[in-house]
Amino acid sequence: MIPAGPATWSYEGYDPDRERLREALCTLGNGVFATRGALPECTADEVHYPGTYAAGCYDRLTSHVAGRAVENEGLVNLPDWLALRFRPRDHRGPADWLHPDRARTLDHRCVLQLERGVLERFTRYQDAQGRLLAVRQLRLVHMAEPQLALLRTDFTAENWSGELDVESALDGTVRNAGVPRYRDLNGAHLVDVHPGRAGPHGITLRCRTRTSDLRIALAARTTSPDPVRAQVLDQHTARAAQLLHLPMAEGRTVTVDKTVALYTSRSPAIGDPLWAAVDAVGHAPGFDELLASHLTAWRQLWRRAELDVPGEAGRILRLHLFHVLQTLSPHTAELDVGVPARGLHGEAYRGHVFWDELFVLPYLNLHFPEVSRALLTYRHRRLGAACRAARDAGHRGAMYPWQSGSDGREETQRLHLNPRSGRWLPDHTHLQQHVGSAIAHNILRYAEATGDTEFLHTKGAETVLQIARFWADRAAYDGDLGRYRIRGVVGPDEYHDAYPDADRPGIDDNAYTNVTAAWVLARAVVLLASLPEPRRVELSERIVLDDGEEEVWRDVAHRLYVPFHSGVISQFEGYAGLAELDWDAYRRKYDDIRRLDRILEAEGDSVNRYRASKQADVLMLAHLFSPGELASLFRQLGYAMDDTGWRRTVDHYLRRTSHGSTLSGLVHGWVLARARRSEAWTFVHEALTGDIADVQGGTTGEGIHLGAMAGTLDLVQRGLTGLRTRDDALSLDPAPLPELTGSGYGFTIRYRGHWGVRLRLSHGRLRITVPMSDRAPIRVELPDRAVTVRPGESWELLLDRSPASDSLRASG
Ligand code: BGC
Repeated sequence: MIPAGPATWSYEGYDPDRERLREALCTLGNGVFATRGALPECTADEVHYPGTYAAGCYDRLTSHVAGRAVENEGLVNLPDWLALRFRPRDHRGPADWLHPDRARTLDHRCVLQLERGVLERFTRYQDAQGRLLAVRQLRLVHMAEPQLALLRTDFTAENWSGELDVESALDGTVRNAGVPRYRDLNGAHLVDVHPGRAGPHGITLRCRTRTSDLRIALAARTTSPDPVRAQVLDQHTARAAQLLHLPMAEGRTVTVDKTVALYTSRSPAIGDPLWAAVDAVGHAPGFDELLASHLTAWRQLWRRAELDVPGEAGRILRLHLFHVLQTLSPHTAELDVGVPARGLHGEAYRGHVFWDELFVLPYLNLHFPEVSRALLTYRHRRLGAACRAARDAGHRGAMYPWQSGSDGREETQRLHLNPRSGRWLPDHTHLQQHVGSAIAHNILRYAEATGDTEFLHTKGAETVLQIARFWADRAAYDGDLGRYRIRGVVGPDEYHDAYPDADRPGIDDNAYTNVTAAWVLARAVVLLASLPEPRRVELSERIVLDDGEEEVWRDVAHRLYVPFHSGVISQFEGYAGLAELDWDAYRRKYDDIRRLDRILEAEGDSVNRYRASKQADVLMLAHLFSPGELASLFRQLGYAMDDTGWRRTVDHYLRRTSHGSTLSGLVHGWVLARARRSEAWTFVHEALTGDIADVQGGTTGEGIHLGAMAGTLDLVQRGLTGLRTRDDALSLDPAPLPELTGSGYGFTIRYRGHWGVRLRLSHGRLRITVPMSDRAPIRVELPDRAVTVRPGESWELLLDRSPASDSLRASG
């Protein structure tokens, strides 16, 4: 047994109430597909929910709720490859299949070995006849061979001899039923399910998705080095199964290995998925060899994402990193997929892609830039759909969907269920057009971090220009104000989707939307000017850029309206007129007021009436922009925003936010680390524990919160170091948060072709080490000085602002 330590995450004892949370957090994946940490002997019920999801594998179904037909596209729960059940058999015949809810579990333990990317499970079952069976399992979703998964099981008969029946299956009877709120929606995505056999030890299952017509095929080989009798069962159902009869002698251990291949018609380099799956399993080496190549792949990943933060925070960050790497691995770079907000770990939000990539790409840019590029390419491939959406709404340019799936159309549900009131309500969150600015922001930051002008000047520029064009057209000039306004939107806050008692959705001039739009417009003008002449001509021809357009962009970039009240940036126009909520009364009345919108709706009220936000909205600006950038953005817009004004704004929203999204704690922690350090830790702590403690009241079991997980990594990497990658330099402006990083922390980044650049901050010093290579030296800037670090050198810089001559020492 591996001891619990920084490299493991373990759960002791069997706790049905926490099982779904464990399943989500013990998910194993490789960026191509992922499987929840369900027990292989369990099928979906109230407690257990096995689920396997392949990146980008969606299907669209119509359901009938609240008297309406609604269409939803969701990430499909694929056939369960893990299924393996067992029961002792003696002269009296077979017992029941052992199951944790029906048999006694004397010991039960699950250990996620983060560094190795394997899940270990150990259970001692006692059946009704008192027979003790120890079950030890090791599973993995292969990180080097991304179509393969393995399950090794060691069975030990502790106090009996006889036979053990082991049934290994590929279960195609599954459906999408992992989120109770969606229970009224159609979840039957798999059709034409055909079990089959492949050779003496092999079973297969093929099927397709109902409307997207993706073909899915699995093949499994289940073997034991011990002599066993095996038979492939009759294939009458949507489940392929093979039965093994293992002779068991008291005290002896028998091993069973299940090797599985999973292909879909989206998998690269194949013809028929079934043929590919059978071929892959047929040629797959044995368990030990596959384990070795899997461990090598994980070792390489950890090296590229080295993170050294001490204590419990470090342990949690490694878990976050683990789940980020399993959802978005180097294999993702080969796929046409976006960033699924809830990982590949469950069915919440139906596997959709939101603005959450804003919290994910900045981390990936400095470790796996090829993955960032692929994720941005996912957006570029759907630029046509975004332009069509803009056109349909009467605008030019690209209007990206708030929720995106397979083809880039708007996937936001039109009705959502308030579980508190039981009412289906209209969902207006698709009005979050700020997602376009997030995409443009990510493209420009990616290019700054990587220097990838090839991408920036081609797909990147085309996307950014179309997003800018949308904003320029979307903004309408208001002669009375002498400014441009963007009306009828929803901001990141999401609670405010209309004015109180209004008969149409949307609010006007969301400050976050307008300021980020102004930034995109200004950057688009600069980008256009910086394109090589032939490319500028080509792109202008391609998108049919009018002569006067650039001038309009410049004008809108300088004259977008930002509302203020009492020296505070207003979240939107009219915010100042909203009622104050009696926060204390609501806190007294309800245990948890994170989802205040649902509480108020269930009370017959509406959150639209109050100065109450779900999550950081205005404050998001300080997550995206450094204090200097933010000041210059407000200057560009002709507003005075000094430090005092910003602090007043922070205070205002801090007292009026319910943190109903895991992103909220993260952003508040990030912002407060600079604005009000003493209060930052509470929020950073909330961001760190969001999923492990399931702070959003049971939502983690439906999928991890990938944005918050990656965001915490980025908090260490950029938030607390002030690391920026602009102007072809690495600049740093550290803001220490000792509760998080102890007396020192470090990490490794990949920067402009330098692999393994190490940064370590401890005891008021920054050490930067650049490995030997033929790349250009790196310019490192601190607020008061700059140095140039050549490959093969290591520099130590004192971080206090004493005269530069005292504070700089070369040691390499
Ligand atoms: C948040 C959004 C986020 C989405 C997906 C929502 O609860 O309010 O900001 O994009 O979850 O993570």
